[in-house]
Amino acid sequence: MKIYVPLDSAAKALGADDVAETIRHEATQRGLKIELIRNGSRGMIWLEPLVEIDAGEGRKAFGNVTPENVSALLDGTLEGLGAVEDIPFFARQTRLTFARCGIIDPLDLDDYEAHGGLAGLRKALAMTGEEIISQVTDSGLRGRGGAGFPTGIKWNTVLGAAADQKYIVCNADEGDSGTFADRMIMEGDPFTLIEGMIIAGVGVGATKGYVYLRSEYPDAINIMNKAVNIAQQKGLLGADVLGSGRAFDMEIRVGAGAYVCGEETSLLNSLEGKRGVVRAKPPLPALEGFLGKPTVVNNVISLATVPVIFEMGAQHYANFGLGRSKGTMPIQIAGNVKHGGLFETAFGMPLGELVNEIAGGTASGQPVKAVQVGGPLGAYMPLSKFDTPFGYEEFDGQGGLIGHAGIVVFDDTTDMLKMARFAMEFCAVESCGKCTPCRIGSVRGVETIDRIERGDSSAIPILTDLCETMKDGSLCALGGFTPFPVMSALTHFPNDFATIKEAAE
Ligand code: NAI
Ligand code: SF4
Repeated sequence: MKIYVPLDSAAKALGADDVAETIRHEATQRGLKIELIRNGSRGMIWLEPLVEIDAGEGRKAFGNVTPENVSALLDGTLEGLGAVEDIPFFARQTRLTFARCGIIDPLDLDDYEAHGGLAGLRKALAMTGEEIISQVTDSGLRGRGGAGFPTGIKWNTVLGAAADQKYIVCNADEGDSGTFADRMIMEGDPFTLIEGMIIAGVGVGATKGYVYLRSEYPDAINIMNKAVNIAQQKGLLGADVLGSGRAFDMEIRVGAGAYVCGEETSLLNSLEGKRGVVRAKPPLPALEGFLGKPTVVNNVISLATVPVIFEMGAQHYANFGLGRSKGTMPIQIAGNVKHGGLFETAFGMPLGELVNEIAGGTASGQPVKAVQVGGPLGAYMPLSKFDTPFGYEEFDGQGGLIGHAGIVVFDDTTDMLKMARFAMEFCAVESCGKCTPCRIGSVRGVETIDRIERGDSSAIPILTDLCETMKDGSLCALGGFTPFPVMSALTHFPNDFATIKEAAE
């Protein structure tokens, strides 16, 4: 009998380690022969720890397992959920990037291969760099870190740059509030990221890769380090990748906890051992990146999606989605929701469907007031924008952004003035300090919002003006995008800004 207990940090935070230990102990006491597998999460956080049992007739799931109900679980008297694939939250997904996550043992390379792993890499190893890049371009894959820049064009710039050394840098500094897709795939299917990085390296002619992983993710750091060691021992990484004669090796580097180090040039400085300050662009990292050499800097999900594109074909991937948003997106649902978790789906699902149907509305039972999409720099979307389809251009057209696809739901008890203040405060705390609109503007922003809260209506045009200056004058997205949450709160929820409320009365 196989028993699967997730090792994912969200599941662990909800008691998965104690459940695994109790299962092991009880099974020994009963003389029951079991194989205990620590898998990744299936992404339904509200059901964690979600344990699956396979007694020879397929996997059956049990939600919210505790050490206290392990006896009933092993007796067969605990009420189950049936197959994970039949749970509506899961059944409605299209899992391409996350196809293996939660199914396999994350550190078992044979299990990985048995579930389609390395099939994409084997195809890529038979291609030229140009052929690899045209596959990525044809798939329509765009940067999943937030900016949505076409991955094929980025790789092509690096391929075309003449240099004795090129690098692949994976941005795993997932700092956006409400996001966890990078962490979840690194903990649940680390080889898919390694495979994607090798394909990128072979494609652009880079022989060395780094994963810049945030220190707040100790489990992901541990699993990625182990996975890299296994890959090196088994000839997947090194001087002769899978006997192809091509070289690619990589290592994991740990960040120190600054949000701005998720910005690619700041990340590169940090990776080089310098202070994490943003660099001016140009030069683009694609031409002068890590140690001044041409570097692909891609987010975890962008790279982890590459293997399935090669496995199934670029056209297969491009058939999903809408408009210029091709393929699928692992949407991370968080905040005040009944059903939080990871929901991978083709681009195009309206925001309202995601919030009301998939997430099941608020956990508090109160009406939804706003949804912040795209992290702390994303706009607050009001109910009137709930028919916006999930896509880059579609959100842009509504004054928002999808960013790294985190959605955080707030109910009607939320004070949007306080949320706007938080955005400015966050920017002030996390600013790298290089440019004035961000460094000084964010501090003035907090003060100005405080004035509005005290009833000073003359501060509202000052706030609007300040946001314009930050948007136009900041060097990077931190200062440049902070106006999104601030202005969307002010525009869509004027009643929360006291002076407007007074004027309206
Ligand atoms: P950007 O628009 O400046 O650049 C996008 C990417 O395309 C960069 O890697 C850039 O180097 C590259 N690029 C541009 N032109 C190129 C060319 N001709 N050839 C090759 N490469 C080229 O955006 P940026 O500042 O890198 O990212 C901003 C985004 O980051 C925001 O949309 C925000 O949502 C997101 N973000 C994500 C976070 C997370 O936790 N994942 C945290 C904070 C922000
Ligand atoms: Fe640094 Fe802020 Fe300027 Fe970005 S906008 S470079 S974080 S000071």
